[in-house]
Amino acid sequence: MDCFRIQGGEKLAGKVLAAGSKNAALPMLAASLLMDDPVRLTRLPALEDIRTMRALLSDLGASVESNDDASEWQISCPAEGPTEAPYEIVRRMRASVAVLGPLLARRGRAKVSLPGGCVIGVRPIDLHLKGLAALGAKIHVKHGEVIAEAPAGGLRGGQVYLASRWGSTVLGTANVMMAATLAKGRTTLDGSAQEPEIVALAEFLNSCGARVAGAGSTQIRIDGVTSLGGGSGRIPADRIETGTLLLAGAATCGDVEVGDCQPTELAVLLDMFQSCGVPFRQGEDWLRVMPWTKRPRALDICCRPYPGFPTDLQAQWMAFSTVAEGLAMVSDSVYPDRFMHVAELNRLGAHIRREGGSAWILGQAQLSGAPVLASDLRASAALVIGGLAASGETIVRRVYHLDRGYQQLERKLSDLGAKVRREVDEEPV
Ligand code: EPZ
Repeated sequence: MDCFRIQGGEKLAGKVLAAGSKNAALPMLAASLLMDDPVRLTRLPALEDIRTMRALLSDLGASVESNDDASEWQISCPAEGPTEAPYEIVRRMRASVAVLGPLLARRGRAKVSLPGGCVIGVRPIDLHLKGLAALGAKIHVKHGEVIAEAPAGGLRGGQVYLASRWGSTVLGTANVMMAATLAKGRTTLDGSAQEPEIVALAEFLNSCGARVAGAGSTQIRIDGVTSLGGGSGRIPADRIETGTLLLAGAATCGDVEVGDCQPTELAVLLDMFQSCGVPFRQGEDWLRVMPWTKRPRALDICCRPYPGFPTDLQAQWMAFSTVAEGLAMVSDSVYPDRFMHVAELNRLGAHIRREGGSAWILGQAQLSGAPVLASDLRASAALVIGGLAASGETIVRRVYHLDRGYQQLERKLSDLGAKVRREVDEEPV
């Protein structure tokens, strides 16, 4: 089990490149189950979750060939093959549920364990099942597993509203959209997620012969086709990694540029930088935060589905807010309980208090390094940011959480001048 040893207080400076997006890659990889011919995907990030998806695809009969650094894959999925995603994989990675729609559409059946919850909150898939049922699937849930079966004549197009009071569902939209590509007739998804990862998936599906329109809006229309061929796709930049690196730069009053990214997808973060006084510049495919001369003001955020402030940057924003000026409230309408990072940030000297579904941060804390415990992917990133801003040494333990979604984060941070080292944790907890 690894940990990060950080000597804080360095102002980050330099340029790094964004990696391919984990949350775009996972549904695009699942979509390969729909294709009659091989698909080629490039710019895949080398992450634990991507390796887990590769294992799942192989279990489902796919053959996967990749180059040395596993950034380019060629995937071939036969029409016949297993239709079960085992619990030990789904338990490890909720995104495994994204094979449900493709398996149902191409092989007529799918059996996937219910993902259960995780530390960021309850993770139901009722909207996924509602959408697949609208395409004619028969859904049974028992013994912690979902069994979905297509009618004898195959799935047929339908109309469904895919959001709940919590908002839209990203993987739910992906699942039903993928299934609908092979359904007979037109499917209309109202209340669909607008995340850029949905747009990337739709573009990839269309490059393989699907007929998807409206991705990125709250109504997606899919005209089913009898089969999909092969195709190729480049994984888009990871907007959450980009935002994480920019917030690390802002928290250390640094000068950090992230290249090969998509600035338009981070418009809400840039607006917050503008409002709180973090200087930044942007180009077509790069973003740069600059050193501030006056301490930025801490600002309230409420996380919402895209294009709102992303829940996946909530913890990182909170870490930055601990060293900003003033009092700010953070709430998360997507995952109201996503606050595992609060107690650990307070161990670094932050002044954060939970009040119901919100957290209040009194800024301008003089953070001081300490051993802290990572609990989930984005909370871990927040603790790293806190450690970078703190004086003295911080040990972030259980960084396997980080490795799920950040490709060698310590290397990128070191390239930016951070004093951070990955070590084997001598006292694993
Ligand atoms: C995706 O998860 C991301 N994961 C998450 O990123 C991200 O936090 C989340 O979207 C929200 O943006 C991937 O793309 C692999 P949801 P997903 O279905 O699709 C409720 C990370 O850190 N809901 O959009 O599983 C649910 O309870 C991860 O990279 C239902 O009620 O999330 C939640 O409140 C963490 N019923 C909200 O919708 C459903 O059937 C959003 O969930 C599905 C969801």
